[in-house]
Amino acid sequence: MTARVIPVVRAEAPRLAHAPDATSLAGLVPGTDTRGRPLRDLRISVTDRCNFRCSYCMPREAFGPDHPFLPHADLLSFEEIARLAGIFVARGVRKLRLTGGEPLMRRHLENLVALLSPLRTPDGAPVDLAITTNGSLLTRKAEVLAAAGLRRVTVSLDALEPGRFRALSDSNIRVEDVLAGIDAAAAAGLGPVKVNVVVRGGVNDDQILPIARHFRGSGHIVRFIEYMDVGTTNGWRADEVVTGRRILDTIGEAYPLEPLPGNAVGEVARRWRYVDGAGEIGVITSISQTFCGDCNRARLSPEGGLYLCLFAEQGHDLRALLRDGADDARIAAAVDAIWRARTDAYSEQRAALAPSRSQRRIEMSYIGG
Ligand code: GTP
Ligand code: 5AD
Ligand code: SF4
Ligand code: SF4
Repeated sequence: MTARVIPVVRAEAPRLAHAPDATSLAGLVPGTDTRGRPLRDLRISVTDRCNFRCSYCMPREAFGPDHPFLPHADLLSFEEIARLAGIFVARGVRKLRLTGGEPLMRRHLENLVALLSPLRTPDGAPVDLAITTNGSLLTRKAEVLAAAGLRRVTVSLDALEPGRFRALSDSNIRVEDVLAGIDAAAAAGLGPVKVNVVVRGGVNDDQILPIARHFRGSGHIVRFIEYMDVGTTNGWRADEVVTGRRILDTIGEAYPLEPLPGNAVGEVARRWRYVDGAGEIGVITSISQTFCGDCNRARLSPEGGLYLCLFAEQGHDLRALLRDGADDARIAAAVDAIWRARTDAYSEQRAALAPSRSQRRIEMSYIGG
């Protein structure tokens, strides 16, 4: 076997294209993109920092003490995020998800939650407000987040065995703390808690069954995720991908499974349930069975770049519009124009695009998955 080479590529500051001056489009109803996909889901990354160093996301070689994290002045303030989120909700967004890096590293995140939770869709429904977190700070934060109006929590967890967890997260946080965080979130009414497991062949695929077993009957929903080629620092290799099919076979042999219908258009996870009634699991198959066809997600970076795909190389600079004093109508028109021009479908085109992709694409820790 040849030695595994991890290219150490300094994550460069992503380029932000200028948002188009779209004042002439003001008044247009929100439209669909070039493939007929509406904008329904906004993922908001609030920080590029994290207290873990998972090797598939922030390998320590690339994210060491000298890594140039974003200075605070470059981050959108909570008021700026809330203003943009309000505009997106008025344009049809129904789901807001806070991500990072580790979103709970942003101080007093509950203050942002309190600004976002009163938002209502045009038909008067509350927005679905969720967070994806590594869980390490949840025992401290779950109640205050729930009180501020958070509705749902997703926790990343790639191993149950303490030594393996410590090695995979490359941190001093104990797996017990994350498990306690999951329980704290459920106790605070933020359930059903989803648990995300990124599966890598030869790295943690032996954890599939123990994790499934641990959470059976708990009311939490585990989702097993195919390892994706996001960013440039993780040295992704196709032979480390464990397909959703293999994951389902592994679990199904021990605990028979049956498929469940999807909850919503654009949902990334395929749902399954244990035949014996012990609950639900999901698989997220962005490599083996792509789901770009109904992708209704946009992503907002910590510094206000609007990205139309997890694999995008460029964002559109909404912070410049905000800080230049643009009014809501102008920002809304810019968002509409950007979305209407969207062509992204990277996962579908992966095989053709991957070899020629530039080294500038955004990191997972910057855009939040
Ligand atoms: P809910 O369905 O609202 O519970 O959340 P979610 O599954 O969309 O969010 P989460 O942050 O838990 O993401 C789960 C996994 O799916 C992560 O690995 C994401 O990177 C991945 N994912 C989410 N959206 C996309 C997408 O648009 N494209 C791809 N390729 N992967 C995505
Ligand atoms: N492939 C798949 N999922 C990933 N995540 C982070 N990096 C990757 C990757 N390369 C997951 C995190 C988190 C979610 C937002 O994305 O574990 O649960
Ligand atoms: Fe941090 Fe999540 Fe990335 Fe791990 S996957 S380094 S917990 S942002
Ligand atoms: Fe959406 Fe891009 Fe993911 Fe396809 S690869 S589902 S277009 S974010």
